Amino acid sequence: VTEKKPVANTQTSDKRFLRALRREPLDRPPFWLMRQAGRYLPEYRQTRAEAGSFLQLCLDPPRATEVTLQPIRRYGFDAAILFADILLIPYALGQELSFREGEGPVLDPVRDLAALRRLSTEQLHQVLAPVYETVERLAGALPHDVALIGFAGAPWTVATYMVQGRGSSDQGAAKHWGYHRPDEFQVLIDLLVDATVDYLDAQVKAGAEALQIFDTWAGSLPEPHFRRWSLEPMARIAKVLKARHPNVPIIAFARGAGPMAKEVAAVAEIDGIGLDTSMSATWAAREIQPLKTTQGNLDPLMVVAGGRAMEAEIARILSAFAGGPHVFNLGHGIVPETPPEHVGALARQVREWRG
Ligand code: CP3
Repeated sequence: VTEKKPVANTQTSDKRFLRALRREPLDRPPFWLMRQAGRYLPEYRQTRAEAGSFLQLCLDPPRATEVTLQPIRRYGFDAAILFADILLIPYALGQELSFREGEGPVLDPVRDLAALRRLSTEQLHQVLAPVYETVERLAGALPHDVALIGFAGAPWTVATYMVQGRGSSDQGAAKHWGYHRPDEFQVLIDLLVDATVDYLDAQVKAGAEALQIFDTWAGSLPEPHFRRWSLEPMARIAKVLKARHPNVPIIAFARGAGPMAKEVAAVAEIDGIGLDTSMSATWAAREIQPLKTTQGNLDPLMVVAGGRAMEAEIARILSAFAGGPHVFNLGHGIVPETPPEHVGALARQVREWRG
């Protein structure tokens, strides 16, 4: 990218997605889907094969731009999410990372202070520069009514992968460290807070108009540990970014938070609350939506099912949240088995809905 575009004024932008996050009344909610760029699309699989590997794709600005745009072209979502991954931060901190077919991410585990001391933010911006270039390219290439979302993982979720060295069903290794030696684990969390602030700040400077923080494993923590390892670091990140970029809305997706979502919504610097599939829409409309814009929460497996079952669920969610600001989305990422035509049916239904 040769020319720098002026940063969009998100305070006055009339993009539907940004208006919903400013709590303005709309004839229909904006919509996008978590993991909207991905393996369910043949054109994604093609571009990924050209890139070589998933990691190479994330760090290849022309191709990462292309896969971000693919679902926008097909479905006309109201927002595009930067194509990248939450594990690029550990990679940029110096941790070895690879994505293996059918296995997911594999990292060289960080389990003690000695391993922690080998990580550093020194190379962060250098390693992540291709991501910022992708954001710049997207800011120049997106249709005028489509908002650009930047993102990062929350410190807790990123830490679970860093400590375990891979995905896990119980986040056991991170819990072990955090419960056994909380002051050591706090060093890792604090490092991730700093790195995440720097990373998201750079995304905004490159043209991201909104930010989402993914805390996929928030729901596996007991209440006091949820506050310490999930909520507090996310709130700290949001406060610093809000002070620097007051007009850039921040969405927190603390998956599995349950009623603790109210405490997330009470953080002044958080504008949107992502709701997972298990969240009651009537409860969230009553307890969360008066405070913050809600986002969610169709079961991704409903989009695999399609047909009348999906239609009824979309209608239920749209109706439940019709009384306030809402961003229609899934309760978690779209799965690779999803038939692309079911996403087309979803898009038509949400776009035509009035409530
Ligand atoms: O939403 C989007 O379209 C933007 C891109 C995006 C990806 N990952 C691309 C991706 C985003 C926002 C993420 C977030 C992410 N990554 C999370 C948090 C949200 C969630 O889904 O819970 C997590 C936990 C990760 C870590 C990660 N990345 C795992 C565990 C895996 C393997 C599982 C899988 O789905 O394969 C990935 C790989 C990944 N990230 C893929 C994509 C499109 C699939 C890689 C491929 O093409 O083979």
